[in-house]
Amino acid sequence: MQIAIDGPASAGKSTVAKLVAKRLNYIYCDTGAMYRAVTYAALKQGIALDNDKVLAEMLNSFELKFVPADPEQLVIVNGEDVTKKIRLPEVTNQVSLVSAQPSVRKEMTHRQQDIAAAGAIVMDGRDIGTTVLPQAEVKIFLVASVHERAVRRYKENVSKGIETSMATLEDEIKTRDYKDSHREISPLTQASDAILLDTTSLNITEVVEKILEFIEEYEKN
Ligand code: DC
Repeated sequence: MQIAIDGPASAGKSTVAKLVAKRLNYIYCDTGAMYRAVTYAALKQGIALDNDKVLAEMLNSFELKFVPADPEQLVIVNGEDVTKKIRLPEVTNQVSLVSAQPSVRKEMTHRQQDIAAAGAIVMDGRDIGTTVLPQAEVKIFLVASVHERAVRRYKENVSKGIETSMATLEDEIKTRDYKDSHREISPLTQASDAILLDTTSLNITEVVEKILEFIEEYEKN
């Protein structure tokens, strides 16, 4: 079975997708990490982040692997462990530009479809239910208010020793929402057959349980 979890930044997608995959013993694929990894590599190589042609060339020799590990799977780019580096603000604030480039989207979509072909999967992102896996059996569109998402990111940052103000975080989230929803190719949109789940007043366990219930419902019918 394929489970697609889409939604805006910081709605809790990867946290819950990981837990759902674990409970079901499915593969988990974080597609945001893939766009972040491309952004990291482009920054490192000094490539202009809106230069589609040069990015396409870079992707010819771009080796990206997810390696299972505890507590979190590692993201390896051309042999370098970038798991933590792809979460730094420098990447976070520029990934929207890279992920809007046509050749980057095309290449990542192919790679995501190849990963999904390997077996039962939970994949999270922005366009999984609409573009990458339109045939996914269960599609969830996860949302939460801007304020709640900023609070979650704030706590996450504090736990990592990163200092940012709530106002800055709210602005960053709004900017990313706008860019993700207004780009030309595969913008963030709810698939017509996706279930809308608002997590503003739910904790992680409650969201995971709800998704598992939706999957059970699907299996019954
Ligand atoms: O989920 P995230 O914040 O790690 O995603 C990083 C960026 O990647 C986000 O700003 C939009 C982009 N993205 C995308 O365009 N399509 C996806 N399927 C996943 C992420």
